[in-house]
Amino acid sequence: MNEKIRVMIGEDEVSKRIQEVADQINRDYEGRTLSLVCVLKGGVFFMCELAKRLKVPVTLDFMSVSSYGDDTKSSGVVKIVKDLDQPLEGKDVLVVEDIIDSGRTLSYLLRILKGRNPKSLKLCTLLDKPDRRVVDDAEVDYCCFVIPDEFVVGFGLDYMQLYRNLPYIGVVELDG
Ligand code: IMP
Ligand code: MG
Repeated sequence: MNEKIRVMIGEDEVSKRIQEVADQINRDYEGRTLSLVCVLKGGVFFMCELAKRLKVPVTLDFMSVSSYGDDTKSSGVVKIVKDLDQPLEGKDVLVVEDIIDSGRTLSYLLRILKGRNPKSLKLCTLLDKPDRRVVDDAEVDYCCFVIPDEFVVGFGLDYMQLYRNLPYIGVVELDG
């Protein structure tokens, strides 16, 4: 069986849109310091590209979570595999995600982070698949692209851990 990748959003378009979102964040957080929280591994490419375009002072921190459940459906109960290094208390926090799908993982994660008493807590995602939403209590503050219900890879997103390094967003097509 061969896998082919169809381009959904090209490299230039992704880059242009990240710049627009960064401009918005620069305006919204003017005069403040922003604590970026990246959810590994998917969020890492987006966080780097976003952070390079931010003019406000930023700190970067990372957390890794795994979802209890089977491979196809996240249960929404999240285990923290790697926690943040820095406390969030009193900080302006922006969570940077690759994609919001069912919303289960994120909803649980945001509850944990809120409990650490940040001054503000907002969410920035590269992609949003609203058709798949099951848990809708996580408001998306910044989103680069709303996409249809297709399984995408690239720009941090994987299919069986592969394709995270693609500089564009594509759809895996199986043939053969
Ligand atoms: P959920 O919102 O709890 O369902 O889980 C979202 C997570 O599932 C994301 O952070 C991704 O890691 C993964 N995911 C969801 N949709 C896709 C996709 O289209 N491609 C790759 N990973 C995806
Ligand atoms: Mg993710």
